[in-house]
Amino acid sequence: MSILITGGAGYIGSHTVVELLKKNFEVIVVDDFSNSKHEVLNRIKKITGKSFTFYEETLLNKEGLENIFKENNIEAVIHFAGYKAVGESVEKPLKYYRNNIIGTITLMELMNEYAVKNMVFSSSATVYGMNNVVPFKETMPLSTTNPYGTTKMFIEQILQDQSIADKDWSTALLRYFNPIGAHESGLIGEDPSEVPNNLMPYLTQVAVGKRAKLSVFGDTYKTPDGTGVRDYIHVVDLAKGHIQALEKVLHSTGIEAYNLGTGKGTSVLDLVRTFEKENGVDIPYEIVEPRAGDIASSYADVSKAKEELNWETKLTIDDMVRDSWNWQKNNPNGYE
Ligand code: UFG
Repeated sequence: MSILITGGAGYIGSHTVVELLKKNFEVIVVDDFSNSKHEVLNRIKKITGKSFTFYEETLLNKEGLENIFKENNIEAVIHFAGYKAVGESVEKPLKYYRNNIIGTITLMELMNEYAVKNMVFSSSATVYGMNNVVPFKETMPLSTTNPYGTTKMFIEQILQDQSIADKDWSTALLRYFNPIGAHESGLIGEDPSEVPNNLMPYLTQVAVGKRAKLSVFGDTYKTPDGTGVRDYIHVVDLAKGHIQALEKVLHSTGIEAYNLGTGKGTSVLDLVRTFEKENGVDIPYEIVEPRAGDIASSYADVSKAKEELNWETKLTIDDMVRDSWNWQKNNPNGYE
């Protein structure tokens, strides 16, 4: 029996494949490389010394995707594949709705046809919207501020409806907070193909000299130092959360959402200073206008994942900044 990983060549997907292989799961990766590189597959093999099956395919091609279900004995799906750039989703909403929503429906139709009803889904803390008060709890009302976030919220709803319609489905909705860091080997990490939208990859590109300075988006938020507060989580802790969620869905039915975060908030300036101190590099920065759609603070109530998945984070902000830098300095041009 195998686990199908959609988007397994991506940042979180690749780290999860490593953890699955370490636990001796049989792994099948499907990825269309729209935002990832083939080289990551070699790196995963180098880290684990293990092999896995790989298909280059988009979820939008139902025939191609069906071959994967025909040729393998799949027990569960961990579904990462999706576009994720917030700004681009505002400019090209249909691109996001087509790829993320139709891709997921196509996948779920095949899961039904081949009686594969165990699913771990990559959701996001973005579904908590602008109106909830931290710490975010899974029971809070959901809303979004951009089409990317809306695809995550809609897919959660689609999975919810499917699990009501068919009691054999077993689903975990994993709401990620802010994943940063990289595998300790420095062989895999985050490799944005465009100018980074997110704080850590931008910061490491400044550190390595690819960009002149970091723009800090606003310093008048209602937070201790005025800059935005987020719940940064080490990507390896996050990957391990998927193994725990997978075990849960394999041994139960129904649908549950889980926050995957540390429960602790860190400001932009805290992160910059910790990075500088831990790694001995200077990060030039300037304060600029706030970014549209950003909230002041986002961090998780992590009690549900701890109780029901028997999972909690182990790695610290120091580990995160060290491993992000180790990846970037060993791979100044990412996988190229
Ligand atoms: N920030 C900067 N400068 C930058 C980039 C970011 O100051 O160049 C600040 C932001 O204003 C924010 C913090 O750094 O305060 C984190 O920003 P990110 O873009 O790294 O992350 P976000 O919290 O905005 O978004 C992330 C993911 C989304 C996800 C969301 C869920 O990118 O996919 O978390 O909370 F939906």
